[in-house]
Amino acid sequence: MTTLIKTADEIAKMRVAGRLAAEVLTMIGAHVKPGVTTDELNQICHDYIVNVQHATPAPLNYRGFPKSICTSVNHVICHGIPAEKKVLKDGDIINIDVTVIKDGYHGDTSKMFFVGSSSVLAERLVKVTQECLYKALALVKPGCTLGDIGHVIAQHAQGQRFSVVREYCGHGIGAVFHEEPQILHYGQPGTGMALQAGMTFTIEPMINAGTHHTKLLPDGWTVVTKDHKLSAQWEHTLLVTETGVEVLTARPDEDLSFLIEHAA
Ligand code: MF3
Ligand code: CO
Ligand code: CO
Repeated sequence: MTTLIKTADEIAKMRVAGRLAAEVLTMIGAHVKPGVTTDELNQICHDYIVNVQHATPAPLNYRGFPKSICTSVNHVICHGIPAEKKVLKDGDIINIDVTVIKDGYHGDTSKMFFVGSSSVLAERLVKVTQECLYKALALVKPGCTLGDIGHVIAQHAQGQRFSVVREYCGHGIGAVFHEEPQILHYGQPGTGMALQAGMTFTIEPMINAGTHHTKLLPDGWTVVTKDHKLSAQWEHTLLVTETGVEVLTARPDEDLSFLIEHAA
């Protein structure tokens, strides 16, 4: 079995890839507004990754995925395919999921954007989903188990009467896009693999306003809520350190100071 622990050289490359992925999300924010198509967002991100960052968009041709980012609008849970006919309208919520490859290593991150104004429900769902990610990040340190991470996410979501998607999960990441272990967003405390310093993986909770049930569309990629209610997702790539966590895809607009206090 290949080790899940990255070398110092690999970690240095993961830091670069993570920073680049985060910078794409920061860059694209100004373009997310009513009237833009998800295909235009895809093209802007693609050009930025290839021409400015001199990196590779990992989704393009990954297992046949046809575009360079995933754009998941409203009741789309994940893996939405950018399309010319998909015009964003006032009140939509959209997850943009960016994965770049630089120097052979992956950085994978996603965030939610509001298109124009938003409903109280959409704002609450998006906020609670980000809180799920942050509560999970705050637990990460050597000895924490995968069950601990899943449990804190599900407790917070369900405490707000939302539900956790089961069929899709976070993942180990490095030279390979999706590697071991699987990071489930539900679980029992104290169960599953214990984290060790040097592991790199994503946490990417998908939280639904209605039931957790999903449906895969005939395009073979787009995952939607079965009840067509809203879904939200936030994703970071992280490194387990000796004292806690380093968020490799952190953006300047985020306040992650709660993690520093936790590590001290
Ligand atoms: N970025 C997604 C993840 O978080 C995976 C997208 S695979 C694709 O794991 F092929 F749909 F791009
Ligand atoms: Co991922
Ligand atoms: Co992703």
